[in-house]
Amino acid sequence: MSISKNFPILKTKINGHDLVYLDNASTCQKPQVMIEALSEFYTKHNANIHRSSNPLADIATKKYEDSRLAVAQFLNCQKNEIIFTRNTTESINLVAKTFAKTFLQAGDVVLLSLAEHHSNIVPWLQLKQEIGIELAYLPLDKNGYLDIVQAKIMLTDKVKFVSIQAASNVLGSIHDYREILKLAKVKNITTLLDAAQIVAHESLNVQELACDFLVFSAHKMFGPTGVGVLYGRKDLLQMMPAFLGGGEMINQVLTDTFTPNELPYKFEAGTPNIADVVAFKSSLDFIKNLTWEYIQKTEQELTDYLWQEMLKLDFVDIYGKNIANKHLPIISFNLKNAHAHDVAELLGEQAIIVRAGQHCTQILHESLGVPATVRASLTFYNTKKEIDLLIKNLRLIYNKFKV
Ligand code: ALA
Repeated sequence: MSISKNFPILKTKINGHDLVYLDNASTCQKPQVMIEALSEFYTKHNANIHRSSNPLADIATKKYEDSRLAVAQFLNCQKNEIIFTRNTTESINLVAKTFAKTFLQAGDVVLLSLAEHHSNIVPWLQLKQEIGIELAYLPLDKNGYLDIVQAKIMLTDKVKFVSIQAASNVLGSIHDYREILKLAKVKNITTLLDAAQIVAHESLNVQELACDFLVFSAHKMFGPTGVGVLYGRKDLLQMMPAFLGGGEMINQVLTDTFTPNELPYKFEAGTPNIADVVAFKSSLDFIKNLTWEYIQKTEQELTDYLWQEMLKLDFVDIYGKNIANKHLPIISFNLKNAHAHDVAELLGEQAIIVRAGQHCTQILHESLGVPATVRASLTFYNTKKEIDLLIKNLRLIYNKFKV
């Protein structure tokens, strides 16, 4: 059975054409098992968690905590080191607005990179406005990878926090993030890894990574929207003040003070996104059953074929030209004479779904010298036949715009 059969949406037709979904870096599609788990929760188990002692709440609480355990096993950490948030963005904001705001001071440098997503820039810019930290941006090498030589130079004594992506959502480059994290750790610098783009493509083991915090979103790994993950080292999470205030995150509330709850509840104020967290476990099980070996082999073939075919098009400018190093099945490009949005719209009419724009990376696009790009991002359920369709339609679109 073809793997795509597990993803019901892939049977959809648009304008009479079979859906070709090439926007997986934005959000990927959901397997039937996850959709069923979501429906089953609302059909059979829905109750608020942690708050009451009744059979329904007990089951709902167990299922929610089982998902936390599954994420902890997925990353190889302790269960109470996993905080559920809404998304990667909220996870980074949590760290910036609690840990960094408390333990950094004016003049301290936070090292980011020029390729970061806005969610790993804006919270730090906000902190710069609030407490006067400085930001430094690691450049990319000529192939679109975080520059290790520059990292060694830029990790000065003033750098107190490093927050970098594992892979670029635009260029597809899988950086040598392990090495950069290690370099930072040698200098005792606190580190955060934005794993949003890598998490569906390779296994992560926080015991082997020199990161203190790691963040990602469930919806980019075949899970539901509205679930983010923050892994934090227990001793750091314990030192940090709470983030949002409200029910569940407290131990005691008095008229003039409160004491926070224990980990991980201290960071999960209010009723969380229970059903989606519960359903997310099915996505993790799905990935586990597929195996990383299968995922990586399939994606490598797709990456090679995609680049090989795209490089044959002499009317296309490709960004991040070299795939000699590790690479996601992502390619960003422009057609000569055609605007990125027009290309995406015309592909969309043929049911080929890509993303056009800056992909939340304005600084990267400025350094590339283009206002926008078209991005095709694939995953293991895509096929070479779909790549052929993309190529064929890019030729047709180019001919339409040719003057
Ligand atoms: N970060 C997502 C993307 O790259 C939204 O499309």
